[in-house]
Amino acid sequence: MDNRPIGLLDSGDGGFSVVKKVIKKLPEESTIFIGDNAHMPYGDKSKEEVIELTRHSVNFLLSRDVKLIIFACNTATAAAMSTIQKEIKPQIIGVIQSGSLAAVRTTENKKVAVSATPVTIASHAYKNEIQVRDPEIEVTELATPKLAPLVEAEEDYNTNLRVVKESLKPLQGKDFDTFVLGCTHYPLIQKEFEEALPDNVSIVDPADQVAQYTFNVMRRDGLFAAPGSVARHEYYTTGDVEKFERMGQSFLDQPDLKAKYVDTEN
Ligand code: SIN
Repeated sequence: MDNRPIGLLDSGDGGFSVVKKVIKKLPEESTIFIGDNAHMPYGDKSKEEVIELTRHSVNFLLSRDVKLIIFACNTATAAAMSTIQKEIKPQIIGVIQSGSLAAVRTTENKKVAVSATPVTIASHAYKNEIQVRDPEIEVTELATPKLAPLVEAEEDYNTNLRVVKESLKPLQGKDFDTFVLGCTHYPLIQKEFEEALPDNVSIVDPADQVAQYTFNVMRRDGLFAAPGSVARHEYYTTGDVEKFERMGQSFLDQPDLKAKYVDTEN
């Protein structure tokens, strides 16, 4: 048994989409989520910058004695996970392996499209992970740099829909039956993606599989909290606390959610 919290990190608000699935799957587990909103977006930074920024959030989570860390950020998973895992003891769980597994299980015509930040797409992490599992699957990769900042900007539905449609235009005429939300910000505007994509396309949110994988790792390593534990959930941001709370309250449907400011650079 291990009553320490699970740590989660993201460049900003997108991690709430993973927090939500983890809390649902593991209701007795406490969590600490940090959004590095002060440095968001990660998706247009160099690999070295993403590693350095991610390291700051990891160090904060380690200072809170977390038992494992979920990189609830595709860009951090693609750019920083393998480097940082070599530096720390707690296991890191990323979102890309889980998202790829879900895509492989979902596609029937073996044609998958993935949209994500420029860093994630340039790493070809989804393509590689999907094709390791099934080399016959064709993967179309699309960088959509405007979409994570769009989510953070809290625009209305119609503005979101217009920008999502514009961003997905290069996929027009392409044949795919499965679409991966390759950035954890995207599930926060999933309705807009559903509207913009053809009806016959299944949308994969990697967070579902991440929650299941986290459950499996904890069972394997004896990391579950004691039965009957009452979970505590803490939220931290390096940016605007009120905005972070607003996003969390709305997406997690918890009107009393409170967050705290943290400076991870000192
Ligand atoms: C970003 O900060 O650019 C998006 C984070 C992600 O890839 O999930």
